[in-house]
Amino acid sequence: MTTERSDNVSEAQIAVHWREEEYYQPPAAFVGQANASDPAILDRFAEDRFPECFKEYADLLDWDHYWHTTLDTSEAPFWKWFVGGRLNACHNCVDRHLATRPNQAAMIWVPEPEDADPVAITYRELWVRVNEFAALLRDFAGVKAGDRVTFHLPMVPELPVAMLACARLGAIHSEVFGGFSGTACGERIADSGSDVLITMDGYYRNGELIDHKIKADEACEAAAKHGHEVGTVLIWRRHPGRYASDRPMVDGRDHFVDDLLPDYRGQRVAPESMPAEAPLFLMYTSGTTGRPKGCQHSTGGYLAYVTGTSKYYQDIHPDDTYWCAADIGWITGHSYIVYGPLSLGTTTVLYEGVPTYPDPGRLWRIAERLGVTTFHTAPTTIRMLRKLGPDEPTKYHYRFKHMTTVGEPIEPEVWRWYHQVVGKGEAVVVDTWWQTETGGFMGTTLPALQPMKPGSCGPGALGIYPVIYDEVGEVVEAGSGKAGNICIRNPWPGIFQTIWGQPERFKQIYYERYNRDPASTDWHDWPYLAGDGAVEAADGYFRILGRIDDVINVAGHRLGTKELESAALTVDEIAEAAAVPVMDELRGRAVEMYVSLKPGMTASPAVQDGVTAAIEREIGKIARPTQVWIVPDMPKTRSGKIMRRVIAGISNFADVGDITTLANPEIVADIRHQVQREK
Ligand code: PRX
Repeated sequence: MTTERSDNVSEAQIAVHWREEEYYQPPAAFVGQANASDPAILDRFAEDRFPECFKEYADLLDWDHYWHTTLDTSEAPFWKWFVGGRLNACHNCVDRHLATRPNQAAMIWVPEPEDADPVAITYRELWVRVNEFAALLRDFAGVKAGDRVTFHLPMVPELPVAMLACARLGAIHSEVFGGFSGTACGERIADSGSDVLITMDGYYRNGELIDHKIKADEACEAAAKHGHEVGTVLIWRRHPGRYASDRPMVDGRDHFVDDLLPDYRGQRVAPESMPAEAPLFLMYTSGTTGRPKGCQHSTGGYLAYVTGTSKYYQDIHPDDTYWCAADIGWITGHSYIVYGPLSLGTTTVLYEGVPTYPDPGRLWRIAERLGVTTFHTAPTTIRMLRKLGPDEPTKYHYRFKHMTTVGEPIEPEVWRWYHQVVGKGEAVVVDTWWQTETGGFMGTTLPALQPMKPGSCGPGALGIYPVIYDEVGEVVEAGSGKAGNICIRNPWPGIFQTIWGQPERFKQIYYERYNRDPASTDWHDWPYLAGDGAVEAADGYFRILGRIDDVINVAGHRLGTKELESAALTVDEIAEAAAVPVMDELRGRAVEMYVSLKPGMTASPAVQDGVTAAIEREIGKIARPTQVWIVPDMPKTRSGKIMRRVIAGISNFADVGDITTLANPEIVADIRHQVQREK
């Protein structure tokens, strides 16, 4: 079994073990056109070529100055890649394509409602927009290299434009997923120290124009509570000239971008030549404590890694129409909607809305209309569309050559529907295991060279050497059938540099567990702890079981149990709270909250609703629990720690393990009776 501290909860603990599956071979038509079809590439990335093998990725970029040191380990585990090199990420994603493909669509944006036409933005138009917005940011908002700028933008082209404009100036962007609450956004603004917030007044979802400006006000308020004032809020209007919110504009703070932009028409901003190690962006994610972690990604290493993996694993060619149907507010969107695809000069599709509105044929209609060749989504979406519209793909005349899945384990039968029905048996399926922290793919298959195996992500990516360790740091051998903690033995260019402002926590969370010598500057002594349980088959393919820490992956969204619990504790009546994962047919996992009340308080539906409302306010609707159980007491250790493992066992009708050491073992039967009776 995977390791977990006795008091915490582990998704891996409730994972379903499915049997080994047969291989599927890639279609010959795919292999014939693949970017990586010569097995020699595996030799070029063999372990004895590390770290120089990654030069191949970095050489896909334009450098202002070439680097002198590929990997500097002197401040382990703060790895530095391509030291001495200078480049600009915006130049690499935009300017360098102007000579060869100025009139090719860089992006196609598919808005809601469905009768609105898709909007194509050529590389030249993108260049113009990015320059003008960068001029506005610099001259109006005072943004300069190294400043942090927070975005709370939905899926609109203004988001990549804002990212690239910051990158052009050397400023560090921090996009907060649009579905997060204003409070969550404010906390991230304060943590990153952003003086500027960029947002939009509203956006469409399920046919409704949603007021988003309200969240900007809440975010500024929440940031102020953390002692941080936001000086400037730049608000794009979803329909320029027509305000979609009834929230007042705050004098001196709030400004409509479409009112300001005419003053910057025709302006050009030279791309700032940045050191390879300069941070490009922050991406907040959940972890073991209530405070979100700002994962800091570099310019040179990150861009090299996402460009290389986009080329070989996404098999992106410039003339593809590539669609990663994720949200740019997550790392998947940063790496594989914006930076990787644009760096390779392809056409990247983004869409507003949801896969199921107005009906579960929407994605396939878009694919047909735009001639999408390469498609990328998450198991949750696949499961949902398989349930709601199992035959919808057959109604549309699109042809995918390549499909990706990301973010959660995919069940073999769901994989087969994706392959057979969505891919019409003609596309390769690439399962990609990775994380916000890793920047790009870690475990996956080279689509023309390594066969697919449903339910397994595959072996380590090029230049990545995963290993599974048991609790005491012994290697769990491939083919042993045993699960353990998956680690990466070596650094790679896409690895995040640190947790913004918390270097000690960075070291402790990711490297302390299996570190062999804290003083060592040899990377061999610093395995990276991914935080997932996994099994390695005899063929070297990994199957990911889920998180081993206090993180629950709901529909591919990573939620921290501590964040959920602190939100619940803001409700007056609540004394204690525990968030646990339960298996969910559609979303992989769902969250159930267990709460106990302060003395003298009475259980009621209003208290349950209060917990849900608090979670929505503090984190966002995505974190809404499926159940709030009010229990008389929590199972606890003698030292008073809540045994989430035991509660998760009850909620999942699974083994609760040894409870003899609990301070109050009798409560287990009471809770079981209460919960299982109602389920
Ligand atoms: O548990 C793993 C799961 O998602 C976690 C990372 O979440 P996040 O940082 O939000 O990034 C998601 C997109 C990369 C991992 O620790 N996960 C990610 N990809 C897979 C996966 N689990 C199984 N199979 C995958 N392909």
